[in-house]
Amino acid sequence: MIRKFSAAAVLCIVLAWRPLGAQTGGAASVSHSAVPARTGIYDVGLDVKVEALLGKMTLEEKVGQLVQYSAGQPTGPGTGRTDYNDMIAKGQIGALFNISTAKETNAYQRLAVEKSRLHIPIVFGLDVIHGFRTEFPIPLGLASTWDPPLVEKAARVAASEASATGIRWTFSPMVDIARDARWGRMAEGAGEDPFLGSAMASAYVHGYQGSRLDAADSVAACAKHFVGYGAAEGGRDYNSTEISEHTLRQVYLPPFHAAVNAGSATIMSAFNSINGVPASANPFTLTQVLRKEWGFRGVVDSDWTSILETIAHGTANDGATAARKSFLAGVDMDMVSSLYHDHLAALVRSGQVPQANIDEAARRVLRLKFALGLFERPYADEAHEAEAMLRPESISLARTAAERSLVLLKNEPAPDTPILPLAGGVQDIALIGPLADDPPSMLGSWAGLGRAEDVVSFHAALAKHVGEQHLFQVKGVGITGGTDEDLAAAVESARKAAVVILALGEHAGEMTGEATSRAHLGLPGRQQELLEKVVATGKPVVLILFSGRPLTLPWAFDHVPAVLAAWFPGIQAGPALVRTLYGESNPSGKLVVSWPRSVGQEPLYYNALSTGRPADKADLSKPPSTGADKYVSRYIDEQNSPQFPFGYGLSYTTFRYGGTELNTKQLKASTLQAEPDGVSQSRTVLTASAEVTNTGSRAGEEVVQIYVRLQGTSVAQPVRSLKGFQRVSLAPGETRKVTFALAPDAFALWNDGNQFAVEPVKVTVWIGPDSAHGAAAALEILP
Ligand code: BGC
Repeated sequence: MIRKFSAAAVLCIVLAWRPLGAQTGGAASVSHSAVPARTGIYDVGLDVKVEALLGKMTLEEKVGQLVQYSAGQPTGPGTGRTDYNDMIAKGQIGALFNISTAKETNAYQRLAVEKSRLHIPIVFGLDVIHGFRTEFPIPLGLASTWDPPLVEKAARVAASEASATGIRWTFSPMVDIARDARWGRMAEGAGEDPFLGSAMASAYVHGYQGSRLDAADSVAACAKHFVGYGAAEGGRDYNSTEISEHTLRQVYLPPFHAAVNAGSATIMSAFNSINGVPASANPFTLTQVLRKEWGFRGVVDSDWTSILETIAHGTANDGATAARKSFLAGVDMDMVSSLYHDHLAALVRSGQVPQANIDEAARRVLRLKFALGLFERPYADEAHEAEAMLRPESISLARTAAERSLVLLKNEPAPDTPILPLAGGVQDIALIGPLADDPPSMLGSWAGLGRAEDVVSFHAALAKHVGEQHLFQVKGVGITGGTDEDLAAAVESARKAAVVILALGEHAGEMTGEATSRAHLGLPGRQQELLEKVVATGKPVVLILFSGRPLTLPWAFDHVPAVLAAWFPGIQAGPALVRTLYGESNPSGKLVVSWPRSVGQEPLYYNALSTGRPADKADLSKPPSTGADKYVSRYIDEQNSPQFPFGYGLSYTTFRYGGTELNTKQLKASTLQAEPDGVSQSRTVLTASAEVTNTGSRAGEEVVQIYVRLQGTSVAQPVRSLKGFQRVSLAPGETRKVTFALAPDAFALWNDGNQFAVEPVKVTVWIGPDSAHGAAAALEILP
């Protein structure tokens, strides 16, 4: 079985949901003549209803639709307001979030529908990021599956559970490109690559919104954080960013564009400033790119108090100015700041904000509510809420997702055959480490309504598999802290066992996700000590890493025979890990971020530019001794290459790749019209193929990847860029010819005039198992 994602395959998804009525103009002109009709916020039938209602509204009521508060557990600094009931009855609130039961949403909804003058329902939101009650792996893990259809199904489960409580809006997907593992929010996204990030963005949006946004079990998606948030300097959360227009367009914008093309009903503006202008008050990104070039008709929501924060950024000196600048830049809804509530009506009356802009923003919010069917069905069905949760098929999908998210980093003979999968016969296992029995951490950060009691922990699943009498479990040390006695107990239990499994890593809630940037990326606390002492026993050791980012563990990669990156796998963590360790499931996950050797390499990403002095011929394994080794772009004390490259991941079987074959050696630039919104993705202009053989003795799935490099361009291009991938299932000994159909987009770049175009260039194409391997084939694009 093959699941394909190449420029041409992603297109099929894209076309189904491309926005209607996009305007043309700006640097990237777009044409939407062939767009099929569809439901959602772009449904033209909604406009009549919206206009009829808008015509009845006062200025204050319109502003009310643009106001959003957190009525539940805060996830950021508050504004001190609690008078939501009163405000709702007065029509002063358009949206609420952080409420989590049908009873609560219905209670607020009754106030809006029964007490407010125009009976406009509230739209309830929540951070449903990787599951609602059925928690899937964290998004970084979900992306490591390289399986967008699976991600779409996971998002659909999340939508059906969340909507049962009346939550019809999720603040997901996070589609920020993350190139720096210090940034804790790397855990929430799909990693460092714009192509993979775009495929994942579409998958989430389709899953959440389904085929009809007004279906009772659909929720509106919110692609966030627009834009460049992941480029935070030094990997420090909320920090400023400097991003050239070229890099913005080529790296950071594409996943948002894919989300918009997929029909995402909303977008969230980010906390960061971009080249000095806050993303939540940025006319270039919010109006020029999003509205004018992409034709986005949905709601732009601010991030939590990000409008207020423009004062701290230094681009506004008071609340009224902050509200005016953000609103005029294109932010429709104010999350939590309360500044739209406090100032917008007065700003209109004093002539500083045009009434027409208020009408347009209110129109967008009303269109969202009509598109969701909230006017017809404002209430959740309390009697059936529980039935939507944790359905057996949802749990089974969570296990499949968890299994596919696991990335096998190392599996070496210990002493003569690879240590994994573990032998099926009876043998005593020592299970050591703070994450072996830590259900809350398995849920990951932003765990929606996930409950620890729903998690099958690694310990529980392993005990069931091997029997309690064969399992010696000790914590060893905590994620932080731990005593010498704890270490001694761990060593003792390791000595008694045939095999040691170490479960080490980060604390999901405190060390990954928002506001968890780290300057040191090793194992926290005394875990490294624990690792070294256990390895010193001489027992075969399997290290399972639970983390929201790659961790720099050079010692472990030198000394531990088997290492599995598990991220935070969700409620089915235990069964997925046990099935994988014992070979019932064969690992097939691949890294979506480059795994650093040391923090000093960050930001580290495979799709970097070459320099004028590339170090590819120098010996980087030792300090430079000759001029040729020295005056190149390198560190004197570290290699340039990652520990493991983007796209990397082992299997229990092995795959051999044949050469990369192209159906032609020459193309003509003049025949390769490329459009940034995916329209040109329908046209295959090159097919590239390679034979892939399963050379091992068990069946396995391989994610086959295709990369290109363009040379001779007006703006330097990355040394490699992903342009497609396919998940291929191969029986032992089976050979399959894997073919990619590439569209003009695969050869296009944002050129020196900030146009998306194909230039006459030299192209290198690789088909391989990751971003550092594969046989090269040459192609020329003539003028
Ligand atoms: C985060 C967003 C989130 C919002 C609402 C913010 O702090 O940056 O990602 O959606 O809070 O909870």
